[in-house]
Amino acid sequence: MRATVLILLAGTLLASGAIARDAPSQPSAIAHPALWPAAHSPRAIADAATEAKISALIARMTIEQKVGQIVQADISTITPEDLKTYPLGSILAGGNSGPYGNERSSAADWHRLVDSFRAVSREPAANGVAIPIIFGVDAVHGHSNLPNATIYPHNIGLGATHDPGLIRRIGAATADEVSASGIEWTFAPTLAVPQDLRWGRSYEGYSSDPKLVAAYATAMVEGLQGRLEPGKPIASDHVAATAKHFLADGGTFGGKDQGDAKIGEAELIARHAQGYPAAIDAGALTVMVSFSSWNGVKNHGNRSLLTDVLKRRMGFEGLVVGDWNAHGQIPGCTVTDCVAALDAGLDLYMAPDSWKGLYESLLKHAQAGELPAARLDDAVRRVLRVKAKLGLLDGSRADRLAPAEIGRADHLALAREAVAKSLVLLKNTGSVLPIRPGAKVLVAGPAADSIAMQSGGWTVSWQGSDVTNADFTDGQTIFAAISDAVKAAGGSAVLAADGAFDAKPDLAVVVYGEKPYAEFQGDVPTLDYQPTDPTDLALIKKLKAAGVPVVSLFLSGRPLFTSPEINASDAFVAAWLPGTQGNGIADVLVARANGKPARDFTGRLPFAWPADARSPVTEPLFPVGYGQSYAKPADIGQLSEDPKMDVAAALNVQNFLARGQALSPWALTVNDSGGARPVGASPLASAAGAIAVRPVDLDAQEDARSYRWSGNGAISIDGPPADLSRQLNNAFALRLDGRVDSLGGAKVLVGVAGTNLDATALLKKQRIGSRFTVKIPLRCYADAGANLAAVGNALRIEGAAGLGLTLQSARVEAVGEPLPCPPKP
Ligand code: BGC
Ligand code: BGC
Repeated sequence: MRATVLILLAGTLLASGAIARDAPSQPSAIAHPALWPAAHSPRAIADAATEAKISALIARMTIEQKVGQIVQADISTITPEDLKTYPLGSILAGGNSGPYGNERSSAADWHRLVDSFRAVSREPAANGVAIPIIFGVDAVHGHSNLPNATIYPHNIGLGATHDPGLIRRIGAATADEVSASGIEWTFAPTLAVPQDLRWGRSYEGYSSDPKLVAAYATAMVEGLQGRLEPGKPIASDHVAATAKHFLADGGTFGGKDQGDAKIGEAELIARHAQGYPAAIDAGALTVMVSFSSWNGVKNHGNRSLLTDVLKRRMGFEGLVVGDWNAHGQIPGCTVTDCVAALDAGLDLYMAPDSWKGLYESLLKHAQAGELPAARLDDAVRRVLRVKAKLGLLDGSRADRLAPAEIGRADHLALAREAVAKSLVLLKNTGSVLPIRPGAKVLVAGPAADSIAMQSGGWTVSWQGSDVTNADFTDGQTIFAAISDAVKAAGGSAVLAADGAFDAKPDLAVVVYGEKPYAEFQGDVPTLDYQPTDPTDLALIKKLKAAGVPVVSLFLSGRPLFTSPEINASDAFVAAWLPGTQGNGIADVLVARANGKPARDFTGRLPFAWPADARSPVTEPLFPVGYGQSYAKPADIGQLSEDPKMDVAAALNVQNFLARGQALSPWALTVNDSGGARPVGASPLASAAGAIAVRPVDLDAQEDARSYRWSGNGAISIDGPPADLSRQLNNAFALRLDGRVDSLGGAKVLVGVAGTNLDATALLKKQRIGSRFTVKIPLRCYADAGANLAAVGNALRIEGAAGLGLTLQSARVEAVGEPLPCPPKP
């Protein structure tokens, strides 16, 4: 019996292609479909008549047309004209891709762009076949790429409302706006069930409660897609939804984006899979695969998950789209060559900038008979099915909504309602809230007058950091909203970000929180809100010291350890990332004139609120579901402010050197033929005298060290092995700040994790005697062979006689744009 099971299991392992033949020691990345919840796409997605039409079409298609259907390109690297040579099936606009290079394009411009691609794809090829493209975009909290669109709270805030009906209405209203810009597909909803909130995408998840996520999955899919009827396209004021990211994107170890869910199958099913059967039964037309892995195997290459579970057990009949070049992360694949993903069950490759090479390699493999023909036909069929359901194949979707749908008044009102329902009251000592009629209010804090801070990532641009208040003319900052409401109730409000005032206010509302981020750029090492520079706490304390009661309005993509801020405040409201409709906040915070009460708090925590900086949260300060209201106040007493971890050490994983000195756990030494010698506060020479070290002033007294080489030697920063693979991405770089004092003639090598790159040319570009900032992408080191998963040597600078460098800081940080690599020595 036991032997049979083992043999069967081994058979599945090999057949699934999920693991290498020589590594049968990872059976835990193989799913057992019978254990999973069964589901089925509604018949309306694949009715017999439509299937017959699709079969007839497939029979006529050339191999080029088939391969084209399974590749998706981003608008930043493809023109409509290209479709004549490369008959691709789909186009997307990524977070940083606006029509005609303009991030702030109007709905009419989006419409024009989509139409221009579609028009070319509608021209029949020599065999008479024409298959219109399908166009996708991340409308993840409203049609969030468009200025003046209706922006709803990010999913975490919607989770706090615990209101599936509201989610359905938001889905329908979002679909109106997407459709009004000529687009028929959104990459939403995210059905992640985030467990470790250090994850930068936590706010894209509705809740840590799988049941709520499943209820929302149904509601959002139904809202976006509307009613599905056999043989009929969905109405043109609806769009295709995407259940993403399959699977356990929210379950990665350490909350690392694109990381590895190191969990058993039972947990995978019970915690992370629950949204998918719900979405599939509701008719979700597409599912996006997660960048992440399950027990070391990339989901994009895991046939047991994509085919055996998703398509067979869960009966998913729509199309499975990949994530942004994620297929390239499968071992043995590159972004331009990857049959393994198709083999595993992917139907549409998201190949934003790699589409040309990918199309060519897939075509070559297909022509050489190396692509399983049945699998290719199945992938094409699924793409065509979705197109048929959207009315793209028969041209019936021509009749779309007008651009006037963007920011429609009733949509804005819906967003306002969602904001009001998303607020969670955690403290209200002495009933400082609601703000009384006639009150003189000071609105302070760095987020008081900022639509960008309210909206977070995935707003206008990918990171959302460049949003201005002028981008949303129908939006209200929190200051503007409170000011209007307070004035209407006979009071007054003034804005002072720094909390300064002439006349003492009755009350201050301090608005602060996380700066906008998206994806891995939001990954953090601890849940401590402001561990190194608690400026917001200082502001609250300053106001309190002046005798002003303080209401904290906390904007964040996740619950964070804020006990010091909560203690210092009279009231504390978790407002998540509410978006543009600040009025929804004023509705709850400000009592109206004539004795009319403010709207009461109904929001409850979608995730546990941490009692300390550790993650995942095991003993929460406030559990999921917690939330006070005016009707039901509670006294939370004084909270412990102990973070219960060495926050500095956790932070400094990315931060090696500051003010010239190594940060714990890192150690700074100078090295030469005599050995290593620690660098401290005083001047010193390396053991054999090759490097002279001296404290110097750059911005402040002795905030840097100067190093003068008179022979061969190196500066070195070392510590316990740190995992920097999270930062292994074009957007992260080693950043050095200092001054070049003299160059000498010899090479300067800058190393990370034992791998050197030649930085001579980089330093030569700096002006002698002036400040410099040098950035070297971490990717360059990995490409040169460094193992960034265990970095003991964070930095090594090797020089020779004549070199003079002053170093102030060394750290790894996100830089946004891709930078070139220095040469290998
Ligand atoms: C994200 C997806 C998104 C896609 C397209 C990826 O980086 O992980 O959620 O839909 O980009 O913008
Ligand atoms: C795109 C996003 C995408 C991300 C992935 C960005 O440049 O705009 O849509 O999710 O890259 O790395």
